[in-house]
Amino acid sequence: MSRIVDGVTRPAPITIEIDGAMIQAHPGETLAAAIVAAGAYRMRDDRSGAPRGLLCNMGTCSECFVWIAMDGAWRRRRACLTPVSERLRIATHEGQP
Ligand code: FES
Repeated sequence: MSRIVDGVTRPAPITIEIDGAMIQAHPGETLAAAIVAAGAYRMRDDRSGAPRGLLCNMGTCSECFVWIAMDGAWRRRRACLTPVSERLRIATHEGQP
């Protein structure tokens, strides 16, 4: 999936890190939007190891949990509710990378 281009003006892109890979995102986007626009759909794995991704995209299902490096620790956050910010580090597995 990619972003709609025609007729849309976005702020200058910022860079965020997902599982060690650098991707471009635009201020105002959610993490979920940035991850999907980058072509990734897996946000986490469930207890059986099956990949999970966006489902409701409105904060109720918790399928989009990702790990975010904050204040020296990894914290779980819903990707569909979390806005991107410069230098954000995200992991789809606890404690990675
Ligand atoms: S996709 Fe359902 S809470 Fe984020």
